[in-house]
Amino acid sequence: MKKLIMFYGSFIILLASALVYQGCSELNDNALLAPEIRTHGVGWANPSSSNFHGSYIASTKWNLNQCKTCHGGDYSGGTSGSSCLGCHTNSNGPENCRTCHGNSEHSNPPSALNGDTSMTSLGVGMHMSHRYPRYSAALSCEDCHRDINGFDDPNHIGDNPDGIAEIFFGTRAYDTLGGPIRPNPTWDRSTATCSNAYCHGTFKEGNVNAVGVWTNQGSVVCGTCHGNPNTGNPTPNINGVFTEPHFAFMDRNSCYICHGSVMNGQGNFVNKDLHVNGEVNY
Ligand code: HEC
Ligand code: HEC
Ligand code: HEC
Ligand code: HEC
Ligand code: HEC
Ligand code: HEC
Repeated sequence: MKKLIMFYGSFIILLASALVYQGCSELNDNALLAPEIRTHGVGWANPSSSNFHGSYIASTKWNLNQCKTCHGGDYSGGTSGSSCLGCHTNSNGPENCRTCHGNSEHSNPPSALNGDTSMTSLGVGMHMSHRYPRYSAALSCEDCHRDINGFDDPNHIGDNPDGIAEIFFGTRAYDTLGGPIRPNPTWDRSTATCSNAYCHGTFKEGNVNAVGVWTNQGSVVCGTCHGNPNTGNPTPNINGVFTEPHFAFMDRNSCYICHGSVMNGQGNFVNKDLHVNGEVNY
């Protein structure tokens, strides 16, 4: 009797471990294609499934060439006879810039690569404030990233991506306004801060020590980058000395007297494209 129990016991253990092994091997090897039925697994086309093809692509370093072998170089079906373009209807199909980051309106996050849409998330941050600012000129991707000329650009994903975007500042962040102050823009991922950039105050009579926190919208307000026009001092008041032609009594309702192309007498911007555009308009 004891022998019989042992026999059946070890048989059950063997069976169970075989099942577990089979489960794992299916996850590891056959996620792309379940060979016995020559088709992808269940949930492959369902975004809420763990077997979703989008998640699989992200987990395999966004390599779309692995799909092209069967679905064709132009994704129209190839030998598989199953086109990607029926669902991915934008130009260039799955390689469209808005497939993996951004949304239907733009290619910058939100959404981030991991799907995050909150501004407190590094992949999202202040993209919208810089691309569609309320009171300054809009930035382009090349103001903060290398120019990406198409999906296959070697500066884009590359062979061994870490899933973290590289920051390379463009010319605007290095502007000097013709003065002696030389910006040295720096991105610090650990504190999510941008410092020593022209745009945030490193310019003649700007607040040279100002930093912007990428994940905190409230970190940059009127008065962060240069003196606070609301309280009547557009330039920093170093040792109690204001810099001509600016004086303490000048508040945002008086900027228009000299900067009329930028602001009006009510203290509102008339042309935000001339603010933080790299030159003083007066
Ligand atoms: C070895 C060949 C092969 C490779 C590689 C391959 N596919 Fe497929 N795929 C197929 C075939 C065949 C079908 C059609 C299956 C069917 O009609 O059931 C298909 C169908 C699909 C479908 C439609 C599923 C549905 O339910 O409508 C999607 C989505 C898809 N593939 C995405 C991908 C992605 C993404 C990749 C790359 C990560 C990829 N495939 C790589 C052969 C392949
Ligand atoms: C049945 C419709 C359908 C087909 C067919 C299809 N996709 Fe998708 N794909 C989707 C949906 C839905 C999403 C998720 C979109 C979203 O989350 O906004 C997606 C997302 C993606 C993503 C984004 C991954 C990421 O990291 O965000 C890639 C890349 C992609 N698909 C590639 C392909 C390729 C390559 C093919 C063809 C081989 C294909 N898709 C075929 C519906 C489809
Ligand atoms: C298949 C998904 C996918 C598509 C489609 C895609 N990207 Fe990306 N993109 C990524 C990933 C992943 C990264 C992060 C790369 C890394 O690890 O360095 C990224 C990063 C970026 C960055 C940040 C800078 C960098 O290089 O790290 C820019 C800018 C960018 N993409 C622009 C584009 C443009 C423009 C297009 C359309 C031509 C595009 N992307 C299409 C996945 C995609
Ligand atoms: C003001 C500077 C700035 C501008 C302009 C900007 N980005 Fe970024 N971008 C960043 C920063 C900062 C990060 C976060 C980098 C990190 O995670 O270390 C980032 C991250 C990203 C990522 C990775 C998101 C993730 O999920 O991790 C993508 C993709 C991206 N940017 C695309 C774009 C595209 C496309 C544009 C133009 C349409 C653009 N960015 C414009 C600063 C900028
Ligand atoms: C009396 C004319 C006048 C008024 C009023 C005035 N500005 Fe200026 N502003 C100038 C001139 C001229 C320059 C260029 C100074 C230079 O290049 O040396 C300048 C430059 C600037 C700069 C660039 C930094 C610098 O000092 O060169 C900022 C920032 C600025 N003004 C903000 C303001 C704000 C904000 C207001 C309203 C609160 C304002 N200004 C009102 C004449 C004026
Ligand atoms: C992100 C940093 C930043 C913030 C925040 C900021 N400024 Fe400026 N501002 C600058 C820079 C940089 C300049 C230098 C000239 C240029 O590039 O336009 C400037 C210049 C100005 C000027 C001079 C005219 C010109 O040429 O632009 C006025 C007026 C001005 N700012 C008003 C304001 C007001 C009002 C606010 C708050 C609503 C404000 N600024 C907030 C960065 C900033």
